[in-house]
Amino acid sequence: MSLSKDTIREEFSLLKKHPTLHYLDSAATSLKPQCVIDAMNEYYAEYSSNVHRGLYDLSERATTAYEEARKTVAKFINAKSEREIIFTSGTTHSINLVALGWARHVLKQGDEIIIPLLEHHSNMVPWQMLAKEIGAKIVYWEPRKDGTLDPTDINKYLSRSTKLLAITHISNVLGTLTPLKQIIQKAFSCGVKVLVDAAQSVSRIPIDVQLLDCDFLAFSGHKAYGPTGIGVLYVKEKHYDNMKPVFGGGGMIREVTTAHTTFNDTPHKFEAGTPPIAEAIGLARALQFIKKLGLSAIHSHEKALTNLCLKELNIIEGIKIIGPAKENLHESIISFTINGVHAHDIATLLNEKNIAVRAGHHCCMPLMKWLGVAATTRASFGIYNTEDDVYALADGIKNVRKTFKL
Ligand code: ALA
Repeated sequence: MSLSKDTIREEFSLLKKHPTLHYLDSAATSLKPQCVIDAMNEYYAEYSSNVHRGLYDLSERATTAYEEARKTVAKFINAKSEREIIFTSGTTHSINLVALGWARHVLKQGDEIIIPLLEHHSNMVPWQMLAKEIGAKIVYWEPRKDGTLDPTDINKYLSRSTKLLAITHISNVLGTLTPLKQIIQKAFSCGVKVLVDAAQSVSRIPIDVQLLDCDFLAFSGHKAYGPTGIGVLYVKEKHYDNMKPVFGGGGMIREVTTAHTTFNDTPHKFEAGTPPIAEAIGLARALQFIKKLGLSAIHSHEKALTNLCLKELNIIEGIKIIGPAKENLHESIISFTINGVHAHDIATLLNEKNIAVRAGHHCCMPLMKWLGVAATTRASFGIYNTEDDVYALADGIKNVRKTFKL
């Protein structure tokens, strides 16, 4: 399999069904390759049964597939052990689990949590909710003017009370890449724990949690060519000592009496109820698919398209790229505004040309406020995109300007 236009698009039945579609919304959710759909169908058609409960062949097969999926995820991000991988329903669930399962028991009144203004609501609202509950304080990290983070700026925000830094790897609005290694090293030297939101990076940038030395890392399946309804929370194993289950129910217990419950081993004690079995199997297949293509090939392909897109958009009058205008500083995501046209109108007119983009605040209202814009239009790339998609977008934008008589 390669990333050549003719072969890669063959893997995506949705693109075959909609051959004229220019899908530029992979940051919201990626399309799913046939191998992922097949793996999930195979589970449903051939061995659909619950896991960790049945003493019959089908259930054992499902349990093996589910636990193998955990090992695949662990290997993909180089976790020390599959015990460090909790399956959740997505990035949002993963981050909430850190807030409610770990931070609620470790942080105290007056402690501080640093959050860059770039963060998605999913990496901001859970912290605001927790801060309110326990009397902690959120300290917002302001990016440079172009939206990038200067790693040395963390010094301005660190204090004796800082306990946690919750930070995105790639901004879902600007596409900027966070210099995580330097930031984590600094945080680590001050005893600050770090949670990384890798929702936008896991399908394009190699992640090695041991090398990064982050404490928690969250991502979703559906932005990484996998299914919806599945996410991952990586937890550095030692933090399990201070982590308590948030949800109770089946699967997470060792023994229940009317008076008392003892819990299962980690990570199972954080996976109450029937887990997303088909989705875990689908996610593992998606990660194998990414591995087969190679993250470095994926990254070069997307980078070339993103740079071409910046070049094409930068020459259109009245368009403003949000974030860095320079090439190479965007990872597959470009947000822009057009003077005099609302982002929703841009997206609606682009849709008429079969171009799918996202418009709005992208679940980043504080960032929009800081940028001084109400909304942006966002184009984001995946492995199936081609130069044709870029040229279609540029033509589509020119058409928007024409329609608005600009
Ligand atoms: N977080 C997703 C996005 O940025 C939904 O579109």
